[in-house]
Amino acid sequence: MTTLFCPGYSHEPFRSLVEVYPGTSVYPSNAFRVEWGPIFHRGRLDGTARVLVLGQDPAQHETIARRILMGTAGRRVQGFLNKLGIDNSYVMINTFIYSVYGQQGGAHHIDDAAITDYRNSWLKAILDGSQVKAVVAFGSFADKAWKKWLASADAAGRPTLAYQKLPHPTSPEAGGGDVAAATKTMLKAYNAGLTALAPAIAPADQPGAIAPYGDAFTPTDQPAIPQRDLPAGSPVWMGTTNEWAVREGSTATDKRLNIRVTASP
Ligand code: URA
Repeated sequence: MTTLFCPGYSHEPFRSLVEVYPGTSVYPSNAFRVEWGPIFHRGRLDGTARVLVLGQDPAQHETIARRILMGTAGRRVQGFLNKLGIDNSYVMINTFIYSVYGQQGGAHHIDDAAITDYRNSWLKAILDGSQVKAVVAFGSFADKAWKKWLASADAAGRPTLAYQKLPHPTSPEAGGGDVAAATKTMLKAYNAGLTALAPAIAPADQPGAIAPYGDAFTPTDQPAIPQRDLPAGSPVWMGTTNEWAVREGSTATDKRLNIRVTASP
């Protein structure tokens, strides 16, 4: 049996980027879960990506898997890409490389220059000589991140890429309201996003007509995270199940320091 895996960051410019990742002087520990380390990306770093996805921040699944956009959010993003016919040629980074801690952590730091600069270094590294034709920002921080890139000197003179800002894939659950109604509204926006992005991406990895979302997510709308996106030897269930990591503890500090992982047989 051959199992593909993500080769990580051993080649430039990514090797140097991960060597100089920002610590607590840039990401303060009262606003970010720095104790679990940064999580950088998921997908192709070899110049073959045609779609760039921007997410928000890693949570507990990403912390364990050491790749972003795992679990429910990740599988919904994977489904969005699959509907575009993209099952391999994508790369994803988050707005923040550490998990946001507290309600306002992201809002207080989205404009921080050092956070922006490091993220822009990643965007430059990904986009230089790349085949990226389209960018999708999931959530408003991701949208801000992309706008900050476009306003940077390194973005000047590059071809304009197709761009869509879409609701964050777990925003219906996070919103605290009617999840079914919010999901329906979000999937309408996703369908419009698919239509807008598809022409820029052609030829897709798997060309064909887009199968639009209905009013709710179906199992096929949330496919597995491929093994080739994960570090070598990662168990398959990390990509095929959703809620396998939970923060645990009776105090806020305990909860920061403990993640319970449950494997699937
Ligand atoms: N996990 C991520 O890595 N990013 C998100 O935006 C959400 C969950």
